[in-house]
Amino acid sequence: MMNKINELEQYCLKKEEWMNGYIKSFYSKDKNVQEGILIKEEHTRKVTAIAYSLAVHLQMNEHDALLARIIGLFHDIGRFKQFSIYKTFNDAQSENHALLGLKILKEQRLLGELTETDQTLIEFAVKNHNAKQVEPTEDRRYLFFARLIRDADKLDIFRVLQPYLTTDDVEPCSKTFIGQFKNGGQCDYNMIRTQNDRKLVRLLWIYDVNFSWTLDKIVSQGYVAEIVKSLPQTEDMKKGFALLKKYIMHKLQYEDKPFCYRDEKTQ
Ligand SMILES: [Fe+2]
Repeated sequence: MMNKINELEQYCLKKEEWMNGYIKSFYSKDKNVQEGILIKEEHTRKVTAIAYSLAVHLQMNEHDALLARIIGLFHDIGRFKQFSIYKTFNDAQSENHALLGLKILKEQRLLGELTETDQTLIEFAVKNHNAKQVEPTEDRRYLFFARLIRDADKLDIFRVLQPYLTTDDVEPCSKTFIGQFKNGGQCDYNMIRTQNDRKLVRLLWIYDVNFSWTLDKIVSQGYVAEIVKSLPQTEDMKKGFALLKKYIMHKLQYEDKPFCYRDEKTQ
């Protein structure tokens, strides 16, 4: 069992090294597989760093900032096995990569050196990082870390997907999607049909970003403007864009509240 900060930092460094080797074990001579693995390797590295920076921004203590870093490191551990088996990152066509990740964390006994409290917290965050919504919990630490990893993950996915933005998709967005978008609502991801639907869903993630810190980075790096530009400019879509813009301006007015440790047991 470990409590001390420097021990947790050592654990982090050791597991980062372990992950490097683990990911390399999935390297393949198959060009497509290799490309997928490399994308997720870089994503893992970036999300680990983003999660830590966000935790620091939220004035979490060093112990919790290290936990955020560990969650970033392990959040997509299931992706490597998923892609090597199924050759797809599509969960619906393969299996839920977060649940697969939990199995790998257990099989490889990656969390065994941590306190039980930290283990269950990490498992909750990994399990919920890609869920449509975070599962209900009374534990506000669980909720906070789940929100943190969801933001860190989204910020980097905008980077990953940007090169694949195309403007020549002829099929418009599905009617149900446009209807929901112009009213500022959420879409049912199972209904994605066209490439433009896929882009629209990415835009709708904005409504699910938790912290202004993340939203500010997504907007200032131009990800929102690029997606808007690549979508059909119909009247209904423009209504949706306007609502989204208003929402962003409103959310960016408020500073993130630091994580509150009052009455908290963290160790
Ligand atoms: Fe993921």
